[in-house]
Amino acid sequence: MYNDKKVGVIGLGKYLPENRLTNKDLEKIVDTTDEWIRARTGIKERRIAGDGEATSDMAVSAAKKALEDARLKPKDIDLIIVATITPDMFFPSTACVVQNKLGVDHVPALDISVACSGFIYGIAIAEQFIKSGRYKHVLLIAAEKMSSVTDWKDRATCVLMGDGAGAAVLGEVKDGGILSVYLGADGSKGELLKMPAGGSKLPASVSTVEGRLHFLKMQGNELFRHAVKIMAEAALKATEPLGLKGDDISLVIPHQANVRILNAVAKRMGIDPAKKVYLNIDKYGNMSAASSAVALAEAVEEGRVKKGDIILLDAFGAGLTWGAIVIKW
Ligand code: COA
Repeated sequence: MYNDKKVGVIGLGKYLPENRLTNKDLEKIVDTTDEWIRARTGIKERRIAGDGEATSDMAVSAAKKALEDARLKPKDIDLIIVATITPDMFFPSTACVVQNKLGVDHVPALDISVACSGFIYGIAIAEQFIKSGRYKHVLLIAAEKMSSVTDWKDRATCVLMGDGAGAAVLGEVKDGGILSVYLGADGSKGELLKMPAGGSKLPASVSTVEGRLHFLKMQGNELFRHAVKIMAEAALKATEPLGLKGDDISLVIPHQANVRILNAVAKRMGIDPAKKVYLNIDKYGNMSAASSAVALAEAVEEGRVKKGDIILLDAFGAGLTWGAIVIKW
């Protein structure tokens, strides 16, 4: 590291669309049951954005709350990062749309496409810009309208996803802050979770639409196996260099993909999932990048994270990508 500047989260915000889609509602759409979904995933309901509501709208709502929490104005931000795999459109980036909606023209803005690990990667990028002295305040938003890429005829995936946004302002802190960052990726397993069409490889056409190729496709079983192994390994890679053991972690705030994955990861880490793993998957399902961001915002809001606590963010997603971050609050 170039200096001993401490970087931390100085403001948090979230936005969840009002419209709730319950498991009972899904029973009317596909061949599934509330019991199956709850037992296999831990999800009870998820939020669905309105037709006219874009990812940038949710992102702006979350960002405004994070700025308020940080007691900053949009003009105090030096860089905007939006983590999303469901941008408003291919280009311009959603970050540029957000920049415009926040009324801060000329502030640099970029999207990152890291799927469910987007919030973790975003924190890592923001940390470097602040540590180097290039920027003082970075606004990181993780926002997803997963319902826009969900195949409502595929019961194996449509029960899992939800829409929402979380935002964090990062800046220099006096104590604590980010203690360690571990990131990883494995492109050889990209086939396990992808949206096949709409890009340069398979541009949109009548046949891609008819073939339902603009929806996410997932090999759930295979991913499940990788998720448990990789999230447990990532947790270790982020905590071991600091000499931290399971007991030293106050709270794990993981990406919310499946409650069974999270219980298995906690077991491998030797921690009690009932006490030390933050869960909100029951309310929101898997919101890709937004999941970790909303989980962190809610954990703090609910008083589950206190000053001096050691928290671990841990995520895994399409790519494959993964990452874990230890923060002293
Ligand atoms: N309702 C009822 N039955 C369903 C169903 C649904 N919504 N979805 C799948 N099933 C059926 C399957 O068709 C299968 O039936 P069969 O045995 O007759 O073939 C059976 O349930 C078991 O399917 P399986 O895929 O083995 O279930 P699972 O226990 O692996 O759970 C997931 C499926 C998707 C919940 C689970 O694999 C998972 O969470 N995977 C990882 C997700 C993930 O991490 N995603 C991305 C990373 S962010």
